[in-house]
Amino acid sequence: MSVAPGRARISASILDSDLANLGNGVRRVEAAGSDRVHLDVMDAHFVPNLTFGPKTIAGIRRRTRLPLDAHLMISEPGRYIKEYLDAGCDSVTIHVEIEEPIEPTLRAIKAAGRAAGLAVKPGTPIDALEPYGPLLDIVMIMTVEPGFGGQSFMADVLRAKAGPARQLLRHKLVGGEVHVDGGVNRETAEIVGSLGVDILVVGSALFLKGRDMAREIRLIKALADEGYQYGLNDGVPPGPPDRMVVLSTLPKHLAQRLWTAIHDAGLPAVMLRGDGQINPDGVRDYDVLVPAEVEGIIHERHDQLAADLLEEAATWRASYVPADA
Ligand code: DX5
Ligand code: ZN
Repeated sequence: MSVAPGRARISASILDSDLANLGNGVRRVEAAGSDRVHLDVMDAHFVPNLTFGPKTIAGIRRRTRLPLDAHLMISEPGRYIKEYLDAGCDSVTIHVEIEEPIEPTLRAIKAAGRAAGLAVKPGTPIDALEPYGPLLDIVMIMTVEPGFGGQSFMADVLRAKAGPARQLLRHKLVGGEVHVDGGVNRETAEIVGSLGVDILVVGSALFLKGRDMAREIRLIKALADEGYQYGLNDGVPPGPPDRMVVLSTLPKHLAQRLWTAIHDAGLPAVMLRGDGQINPDGVRDYDVLVPAEVEGIIHERHDQLAADLLEEAATWRASYVPADA
């Protein structure tokens, strides 16, 4: 059954899979439609459990193309960060409660071109992350005490922290992500979606005996999107976060100018040859596309230029003289 792509993304935690056969666990969540893999690294010191490290992750990297989110529940992430980056993690999230300095590790993750995140335990106030806000791509809200899968979801923790977490990422016009980790399943997905969470970490709910993992993933996504639809989107079904929209369609040289203006303002845009009209120079119009989630801001800042360029396009077409004329 194919479902229209929605907004909610799932990062499957393999903590409750067969730890003696992690490769198979990863293949299963990929085949079942998970968007990413959540890797719970525990050192039996920061949390009362021990799982796996960079070598295992390097092996997992060779078995899947899904993005790998490392959740480091270890006391000294700074000491081992290079190994986790070399292992191929796409994002690395460390805990704000560690005793070693946090900023250098976040900078090392970003310097490697990966997404840097901070996780916060249920009992830790979210403003503990404030000093690191500008360095964050990910805020991970723990809705269980870290250390084990299969625990109950703490709804009040998420209600209190979802809004401030989004605020911590306000410097990121696109791509900032709020992750929720712990106790997410078909019973709790709707509230998670209604609070605007981007990435739902789901563990034990996917590995329950007798449950169809692919159906569970579809259900959890659909329920989260329903929560978002009625909780935050005025009843409008949400679209994929990476959905692109056409801002303007122009002759190539004018589309280039619009693209450059948006790009120089630090905003994302792409230019693609469209299927619009063919111009007097024989070249088809180009579309300038932007992410739907920042369309409003780009309209505010660049609508005047876009309108001027449309006028210029009309004049250019009308007065076009071929080079060899
Ligand atoms: C717990 C881990 C979670 C856990 C989630 O410390 O960080 O990622 O595996 O599992 P469930 O979904 O079962 O709570
Ligand atoms: Zn986790």
